Amino acid sequence: MATPILKVGFSLVFTISLLASTLAQSDTYIIHMDGSAMPKAFSDHHNWYLATISSVSDTATSTFTRTSKHIYTYTSSVQGFSASLTKSELEALKKSPGYISSTRDRKIEVHTTHTSEFLGLSSSSGAWPTANYGEDMIIGLVDTGIWPESESFSDEGMTEVPSRWKGKCEPGTQFNSSTCNKKLIGARYYNKGLLANDPKIKISMNSTRDTDGHGTHTASTAAGNYVKGASYFGFANGTSSGMAPRARIAMYKAIWRHGVYESDVLAAMDQAIQDGVDILSLSLTVAIEDDFFLEDDTIAIASFAAMEKGVFVAASAGNAGPLYYTLVNGAPWMLTIGAGTIDRELEGVLTLGNGNQISFPTLYPGNYSLSHKPLVFMDGCESVSELKKVKNKIIVCKDNLTFSDQIENAASARVSGAVFISNHTSPSEFYTRSSFPAVYIGLQDGERVIDYIKESKDPRGTVVFRKTVTGTKPAPRVDDYSGRGPFASCRNVLKPDLLAPGTLVLASWSPISSVAEVRSHSLFSKFNLLSGTSMATPHVAGVAALIKKAHPDWSPAAIRSALMTTADSLDNTLSPIKDASNNDSPATPIDIGSGHINPNKSLDPGLIYDATAEDYIKLLCAMNYTNKQIQIITRSSHHDCKNRSLDLNYPSFIAFFDSYDSGSKEKVVHKFRRTLTNVGERMSSYTAKLIGMDGIKISVEPQKLVFKKEHEKLSYTLTLEGPKSLKEDVVHGSLSWVHDGGKHVVRSPIVATSITP
Ligand SMILES: *[C@@H]1O[C@H](CO)[C@@H](O)[C@H](O)[C@H]1NC(C)=O
Ligand SMILES: *[C@@H]1O[C@H](CO)[C@@H](O)[C@H](O)[C@H]1NC(C)=O
Ligand SMILES: *[C@@H]1O[C@H](CO)[C@@H](O)[C@H](O)[C@H]1NC(C)=O
Ligand SMILES: *[C@@H]1O[C@H](CO)[C@@H](O)[C@H](O)[C@H]1NC(C)=O
Ligand SMILES: *[C@@H]1O[C@H](CO)[C@@H](O)[C@H](O)[C@H]1NC(C)=O
Ligand SMILES: *[C@@H]1O[C@H](CO)[C@@H](O)[C@H](O)[C@H]1NC(C)=O
Ligand SMILES: *[C@@H]1O[C@H](CO)[C@@H](O)[C@H](O)[C@H]1NC(C)=O
Ligand SMILES: *[C@@H]1O[C@H](CO)[C@@H](O)[C@H](O)[C@H]1NC(C)=O
Ligand SMILES: *[C@@H]1O[C@H](CO)[C@@H](O)[C@H](O)[C@H]1NC(C)=O
Repeated sequence: MATPILKVGFSLVFTISLLASTLAQSDTYIIHMDGSAMPKAFSDHHNWYLATISSVSDTATSTFTRTSKHIYTYTSSVQGFSASLTKSELEALKKSPGYISSTRDRKIEVHTTHTSEFLGLSSSSGAWPTANYGEDMIIGLVDTGIWPESESFSDEGMTEVPSRWKGKCEPGTQFNSSTCNKKLIGARYYNKGLLANDPKIKISMNSTRDTDGHGTHTASTAAGNYVKGASYFGFANGTSSGMAPRARIAMYKAIWRHGVYESDVLAAMDQAIQDGVDILSLSLTVAIEDDFFLEDDTIAIASFAAMEKGVFVAASAGNAGPLYYTLVNGAPWMLTIGAGTIDRELEGVLTLGNGNQISFPTLYPGNYSLSHKPLVFMDGCESVSELKKVKNKIIVCKDNLTFSDQIENAASARVSGAVFISNHTSPSEFYTRSSFPAVYIGLQDGERVIDYIKESKDPRGTVVFRKTVTGTKPAPRVDDYSGRGPFASCRNVLKPDLLAPGTLVLASWSPISSVAEVRSHSLFSKFNLLSGTSMATPHVAGVAALIKKAHPDWSPAAIRSALMTTADSLDNTLSPIKDASNNDSPATPIDIGSGHINPNKSLDPGLIYDATAEDYIKLLCAMNYTNKQIQIITRSSHHDCKNRSLDLNYPSFIAFFDSYDSGSKEKVVHKFRRTLTNVGERMSSYTAKLIGMDGIKISVEPQKLVFKKEHEKLSYTLTLEGPKSLKEDVVHGSLSWVHDGGKHVVRSPIVATSITP
């Protein structure tokens, strides 16, 4: 079975194009309604919506048209419904009582073992035992489904399902209510929107069973049980486990091989909120172009509803990096996650006859080992017919044609092995997934190989694959595909929030979805290595479950604060985290937010920046959102915007300056007011430590915070003073509140920037 993720290679974003709807004039819409406008005659919103649809219907009103036009009623994510409507029906609907607004049902983009050790999780002490491995926390995922028989979803060691859980294990193709267990406690699937958009589609696996692998991967990353002997054809071998190995999983399948629609994703989120998940992990986004308002982003709206119910929402920043303003899922009530590398290289080694060894990155899964084979230098490898003449030798090609042409030539000539020499020192993951034994090396190593071939009478080489090297440095680095801030639709909040492991993550996979091809043979595996912000997100969802287990009364904002203020800004060489897209120069908070997730520390942050739904509404008001726009997001009409503030109580700071130099000597002052809540020891004092930034004066008042009670709140003001225009795109520093006993450091990045969308 085809795996779209692998086909598009490195970026792992797949948007599936669909045939145009055959229901000639009908389109699918999501309609926002004012629930308070429901006439008294109706017992509930659902019946009101059905009656509204039939009252605008072009065709003779019958139960059949009513129900066939109606797709979903939403109650917990947005207030409204989705329906298939003609243009004239939509126009009539706009005049119906309670109508607020509507959007066309849009397509959704999916962003597409060792990581727990890299994150410092250990069973002897630290975050895992403190949070009892996330026991009883329920992580909901909206994804491609799940492979329930995967060992990652074994319920060994799990206690009874908590009685508060309202979810279900829905039967379907190759799935029945006993397919779930005490680990996988919920399984539901949504494709009515997809079918309304394209009625010709045949759903072959009409159930939560995962035919793709993505959802099995993300679910096992968040909360998979321990699996010994996990590996991808020997690569990355070891014991695999999720971030919260005792948490429960509820899968909401809304991503289908045939396509993904907002109406289905919204129905999935709606149900997850009603079922009572604690955490939502979202590795997808509405495909919105350019600048948009938050009320256009249904995933953001549904996340607002989740936040109000205390559900923590972790969402991927997208894989459209590394340019500025490529970030998605940046609503201030979501946690937005970028992807980093881990301290593990998956390699092969080329040994020349003279003993020289050259290692290279590879994911080649075949069994072939090329031992003591003749090496032949073919220069640019331009001629397939010349390559075909070479039998049982390793050919060596040097960059002249483009890399991809050489690879195609070598593959179609069915060479037994090849060494590609290129000035691209690190080949993309797409190339390392070669379908034949291929070695990718840089120019310097390439010279050594060519010199050896020229000097030797009988040049020979040996190539082995499947080597796993851990503890490599520097790590983490932000990977180039990771979506970068600022977030165009809400620039006043710094995004992304956090970096988590996203590159070459090993996790469970659907065994019926091929992971690679070797010589035109599809290969299958219970585990797969994937890269993307999709993979980073469930890491954070799992850690959030640990935090919520340890602190059941914390709000989503408090959990976010704990994750952000304890994140690491340094890598494993103790220098600032670097940017893989930019020759490993230091990354900025626009790339990595507060830094890389540190699970141990996040369980005990000392202080938190809390925020309520009311605070986000104040922000929307200050952004000049109209009452109608705010009503769409909050599902409530009781907002007068008397209180407004752009200064959300957020654990990071961003200030915008002019990019052009007007020559003005004028000083510009940005002030931020923040409130910290003491969640550490009752009596504790903290001192401000500022890391300054070029050309900007920063100060904090007061410089000392003395807490005398648990949950006491104290406020401070941070002031940035600088010239009207900044010379650089981004300058950054930080403010840390350092516990006087040395127990906590509560750090926030500060960004001053002049970049415009
Ligand atoms: C987390 O705690 C464990 C156990 O105490 C320790 O081995 C590990 O080094 C810690 N990791 C970090 C990142 O602090
Ligand atoms: C339920 O499905 C499982 C496979 O997931 C199968 O082994 C089992 O026999 C089914 N049970 C019933 C009652 O159909
Ligand atoms: C899928 O299963 C559901 C529930 O059994 C059913 O209502 C629906 O018609 C099925 N859809 C398809 C396309 O078979
Ligand atoms: C992975 O496999 C190699 C080679 O078989 C072995 O030396 C190594 O110890 C394994 N690593 C782990 C973590 O099991
Ligand atoms: C490699 O060898 C294993 C064990 O013999 C076999 O199961 C697998 O199919 C082989 N893989 C390839 C790509 O030939
Ligand atoms: C690249 O190949 C062309 C022939 O296809 C040749 O003329 C040219 O010299 C080659 N360039 C290099 C740098 O090898
Ligand atoms: C690699 O070589 C090509 C052609 O010689 C050149 O255009 C390109 O800039 C080089 N790339 C790097 C990363 O040096
Ligand atoms: C909101 O509108 C006011 C008055 O028009 C304006 O001064 C302010 O800059 C606007 N705020 C934003 C964030 O656009
Ligand atoms: C506005 O904010 C003040 C102070 O925070 C609060 O007392 C008041 O209730 C708020 N008013 C509204 C309408 O939210």
